[in-house]
Amino acid sequence: MSGLASNQSLTPLTYGLNAQGHACLGNLSLVDLALQYGTPLYVLCGNTIHAAAKAYTDTLTEYYPAPHHILYAGKANLSLGLCQKLSHWGIGVDVVSGGELTTALKAGMDAKALSLNGNNKSADELRQALHAGIGLISVDNEDELHLLAHVARETSQTARILLRVCPGIEAHTHDYIKTGQEDTKFGFGLHQLPTVMAAILGPLADVIELQGLHAHIGSQIFDLQPYQDLAKLMLTLYFNIRKHYGITLPDLNLGGGLGISYTHTDDPPAIATAVQAIAETLKGEADKLDYPLPRLLLEPGRSLVASAGITLYTVGSQKIIPPSPTFAGRHFVAVDGGMGDNIRPALYQAHYTAVVANKATQAATQTVTLVGKYCETGDKLIESLAVPPVEARDTVAVFGTGAYNDSMASTYNRMPRPACVWVENNSACLLTRRETVEDLLRRDQWFTQL
Ligand SMILES: Cc1ncc(COP(=O)(O)O)c(C=O)c1O
Repeated sequence: MSGLASNQSLTPLTYGLNAQGHACLGNLSLVDLALQYGTPLYVLCGNTIHAAAKAYTDTLTEYYPAPHHILYAGKANLSLGLCQKLSHWGIGVDVVSGGELTTALKAGMDAKALSLNGNNKSADELRQALHAGIGLISVDNEDELHLLAHVARETSQTARILLRVCPGIEAHTHDYIKTGQEDTKFGFGLHQLPTVMAAILGPLADVIELQGLHAHIGSQIFDLQPYQDLAKLMLTLYFNIRKHYGITLPDLNLGGGLGISYTHTDDPPAIATAVQAIAETLKGEADKLDYPLPRLLLEPGRSLVASAGITLYTVGSQKIIPPSPTFAGRHFVAVDGGMGDNIRPALYQAHYTAVVANKATQAATQTVTLVGKYCETGDKLIESLAVPPVEARDTVAVFGTGAYNDSMASTYNRMPRPACVWVENNSACLLTRRETVEDLLRRDQWFTQL
């Protein structure tokens, strides 16, 4: 183990090499896992996810002297088995669709430990959440607030809600994953709060119970200052809400977004450092304002699961373009997956690192471009990767793929989605089976007449 926190380590915490020079998780060779389960294969290291979950909960227990609850952002990667594990470790889930909600409930999670998020929830999704007895619904806009009130009345239920606000705090991250700035589709502008509060405390009061506010400022964030600014701003809002409306809101959700190391140049703060900074800022502000600490909710996705993930591929063909006076040349190494199982490089120029798992101790002698097998020029996994000589049937292990890979996977080119294997304490089991072409064909209908 490297001594780095799970979100700072490029590899899962149990990553190492065996006597044959093969990359391993604990004593399980990644080369053997690839042979046993086939490739492309997602591998999730349970020990790494557990360490990350523990870092969140232990730090809150140590530094935040009021109730707290971690809501894993299920959008990062969701399956029945992962929900079972998280629930066992005392972690809830933030869901953003009926599908995610059904998964968490089916996994036996307590509905009270869940929250429902999203900027365009349907009446059916709201109905499903209320019917299940969900802990909280983060209401994103005025249309949704009225739709929720309508659904709650129709089913004679009360909805416990947070109002998602866009606090106008910019996190320094990729434009596509920023959410806290004013120009965003998510959440209420702060200027809308008086109108919304009037509705909640007036005509909607019979079915809507306001529990607090929610903000999420973006993803893959390395800088703690935006979180500290957010904590102060939110507590000031709570203070003003108490002053104007006489309500002490019990819950505060500060979202997720903490970054991880995808490459050697990434330097995120450890989970414990970030959580301590947030907790201490809230405590300081609460003392200053003489305001009671609310229950703190955090919604990490990436920092809980990304570093635990490895995707295993098998090398197929290679193409070498020799240098010319106008072009530096390129060596393409193609693997049996690509943008269908990992859209992030094509979607927002995400960077990854990788090793050749069966040659993990061999010195790198060349720089290659790792590409997939999808019919797009943009189907590049890693633009510039230093590797030893590569041959067909080598196993490539791409690190940091535990978040926003499987959950964003597509079946483009009619390629079925990979299986996912869970590795914990030196044993492996299937978490998600490999999709088959038959699964894809099952959706298709025949014309009865041509
Ligand atoms: C509302 C909300 N909460 C939490 C998250 C999780 O973010 P991350 O995976 O960066 O921790 C997201 C991600 O988009 C989000 O939109």
